[in-house]
Amino acid sequence: MPAAPSLLSRAARGLLEHSWPLMRAGLFEFDAETAHHLTIRGLKVAGSSGFLRLLPETIEAAPVKLWGLTFPNRVGLAAGLDKTGEAIDGFGAMGFGFVEIGTLTPRPQPGNDKPRLFRIVNREAIVNRMGFNNPGMTEGMANVARRTWKGIVGVNIGKNFDTPNERAVDDYLTCLREAWPLADYVTVNLSSPNTKGLRDLQQEESCRALIRALHAEQRALAQTHGRHVPVLIKIAPDLEDTHIDGLARLFAEEKLEGVIATNTTLSRRHVEDERYGDERGGLSGAPLTQRATEVIARFCRVLDGAMPLIGVGGIMNGADAVEKLRAGAALVQIYSGLVYRGPALVRECAESCAAALT
Ligand code: FNR
Repeated sequence: MPAAPSLLSRAARGLLEHSWPLMRAGLFEFDAETAHHLTIRGLKVAGSSGFLRLLPETIEAAPVKLWGLTFPNRVGLAAGLDKTGEAIDGFGAMGFGFVEIGTLTPRPQPGNDKPRLFRIVNREAIVNRMGFNNPGMTEGMANVARRTWKGIVGVNIGKNFDTPNERAVDDYLTCLREAWPLADYVTVNLSSPNTKGLRDLQQEESCRALIRALHAEQRALAQTHGRHVPVLIKIAPDLEDTHIDGLARLFAEEKLEGVIATNTTLSRRHVEDERYGDERGGLSGAPLTQRATEVIARFCRVLDGAMPLIGVGGIMNGADAVEKLRAGAALVQIYSGLVYRGPALVRECAESCAAALT
């Protein structure tokens, strides 16, 4: 049993959660990417300060053991918010049950031209076409090594923008090798809409070949390092039903260990008339809630318990998180909800999930 949080640590978490409306008002004065960098820098500083050490280690709510890992609660940080892994301690202190960093690519790359990140505040949505801006695997894993937070860290991996799809497997294998010694799990991202051709890797035959190559590498790495690291695949919400069914059957046949559904959408439903609604890129947040849940439900129906699924997409409150569990997800992740609702959303989702599961 974990020690009960002290009065002081509960007060510190309360301060973090309740100061969000003020912090949000300040951050939303800046353009979205500047606000993002300020948040990451703030969390990095906070991570190395005494304040975060006052916080309770984690939120214990319906813990679950999956892939040999014990998740203290069902709520994780989705990939893309801490692409570099430099703010793991700060995000961990918010009470997440797990934190996924990345997407990291083998070599560093700058991503697309700015502006490339847009808030659609009226709809609690975000459009991004960041294009995997990241410092590369080596620096990302050095950040993982430096963290002091003891929670579960997933590493989300991708291919460099200039690697042709025929050689994408090599990029994923390079990343897997680098992630292996320190990652608790690895997510293979096949679903960002901002890297040309990436989503084509979701075609069944490409996917089968990739999974087989990853599994062979996993076996070799497990031999060398004496530890196993589960590999999950993250998919897009913009798939036809027959494609979802085919992928789910393929994942079960190939004994994939887990699925993350979903990434951002190319659809512009609900934001057509909004400022930035027509910006190119992936849409996330409230307009994605329903579609992501539909995709999760369809996947889970066909998978029929063959592997756990992490549900993500438009979780803006505790009830949205519970919907993802009801659709069949074992865990959930949040990104846009955290931007609009702040750190209190982590506890709200963790507690709602726990209440729904008991
Ligand atoms: C993302 N997302 C993302 N996903 C991923 O696998 N790798 C990445 O690098 C990124 N980058 C990224 C940047 C930005 C600005 C956003 C808003 C999102 C997708 C994210 O992890 C999640 O799947 C979607 O955003 C849907 O969840 P939310 O945001 O609706 O909770």
